[in-house]
Amino acid sequence: MRLTLLLVAASASLAASRVCKPHRTTTSLATVHQTSSAEAVPQSSSTETPLETPVVSSVYTPVVSLTTSSVPSSAATFVATPIRSSTVSQAVSEVASEVASEAATSVASEAATSVVSEVATSSASKAASSVVVSEVATSAASQAASSVATVASSAISSAASSAASSAATEVASGSFLFTGVSESGAEFGTGNIPGTEGTDYTFPNTSAIDILFDAGMNSFRVPFLMERMIPTEMTGTLDSDYFSGIETVVTHITGKGAYAILDPHNYGRYYSNIITDTDAFGSFWATLSAKFADNELVVFDTNNEYHDMENTLVAELNQAAITAIRGAGATSQYIFVEGNSYSGAWTWVSSGNGDALKDLTDPQDKIIYEMHQYLDSDGSGTSETCVSSTIGEERLEAATAWLRENGKTGVLGETGGADNSVCIAAVKGELQYLQDNSDVWAGFLWWAAGPWWADYMFSLEPSTGVAYESYLSVIETFLV
Ligand SMILES: *[C@@H]1O[C@H](CO)[C@@H](O)[C@H](O)[C@H]1NC(C)=O
Repeated sequence: MRLTLLLVAASASLAASRVCKPHRTTTSLATVHQTSSAEAVPQSSSTETPLETPVVSSVYTPVVSLTTSSVPSSAATFVATPIRSSTVSQAVSEVASEVASEAATSVASEAATSVVSEVATSSASKAASSVVVSEVATSAASQAASSVATVASSAISSAASSAASSAATEVASGSFLFTGVSESGAEFGTGNIPGTEGTDYTFPNTSAIDILFDAGMNSFRVPFLMERMIPTEMTGTLDSDYFSGIETVVTHITGKGAYAILDPHNYGRYYSNIITDTDAFGSFWATLSAKFADNELVVFDTNNEYHDMENTLVAELNQAAITAIRGAGATSQYIFVEGNSYSGAWTWVSSGNGDALKDLTDPQDKIIYEMHQYLDSDGSGTSETCVSSTIGEERLEAATAWLRENGKTGVLGETGGADNSVCIAAVKGELQYLQDNSDVWAGFLWWAAGPWWADYMFSLEPSTGVAYESYLSVIETFLV
């Protein structure tokens, strides 16, 4: 990350500069940002080799149209529904034939998943004793049946709620929970804080989000700057205009039934200084998360790409955020935690992130480990050259083993590749690998869409983004 150090030296106000994802700019983007934005620092020069002809050049036509009902409004819906309907219908049919003891056994068997086995066992024994006591009388059969029905109903509701909380830490087998893209814009212009909307930064385009949603995406990560959200000090109050801009985008996304991932794009820094006051950091998160406490489709991403800090500090900041979010009443949402070393998947174990972060705790048990992975030689996502067509899967192997060994769930929160055959093959291999290991990987998000990327090599902004043309058909195969 020598590039990082050079950039830090070049500017004293690089609090949240995006070193690892610079954009190749067009004239318009350069005009907007060159004088005010640290984002403009890592731009590629105009002498850069032109992009190759896109492999997929035809205009993309969405073939998958997700309706709100087909998007997970919550994991609980998926898990609870099949348990409820099958158990009820089974219980009813058993009751009708007055074979109460069989019904009890059946309820036990239906409910005998790992999460409800205790409930089921106790239900079965209660129902069975009820049957024995009353089996002499004709009317007793119907009483027993009704007793079974009552017990079954309580077992069902216990099963549903247990299953719902269990689902929080488990990825549905063979499929992803989160697939989508980062919606960049509000974090632009780090050289001018707070800066001016429309000049230094912009909010994501909800019409463009609709297009990506219609293409099958169900998760949109929304980067922003902590200094603009809560200025001056982390224990302060929300800036109403900036918050409102983010809130509009977030509620638009969740109103469609998709996940909105709140991403303070700050690299573990606030006004350029590494955050060491974990209480103040917790205060920031308490204030922000309280605003979304009732919206279960909001996901809290504690911070983007901690780096060049102590691993123990990164762990403490993540834990402070989790504790504060839950304490603020936001108890239903997933929390994405990130690691040091830019949260790289390929260095997750070797950097010590794995050891430092494996003991994070959440009373709701909804922690997801967010890692990032780029496929160029230094893993920074700044080159159009990918190492090889198999580098994607190779760079995920150690992290995947760590997730599995430690019973954790991960999400690839950023990835991308340029428009050339080696990168396209590498991205395909990477996403296929994630899908093949979806017992521990909950999904992936492309970096990035957003209205100001212009001809940035990874831009997924409809419909002119370079990656929108070359990669959407690749990504689409792996969408939930
Ligand atoms: C927002 O996205 C829509 C759909 O792609 C596009 O027509 C519109 O021009 C975009 N607006 C801005 C301000 O970028």
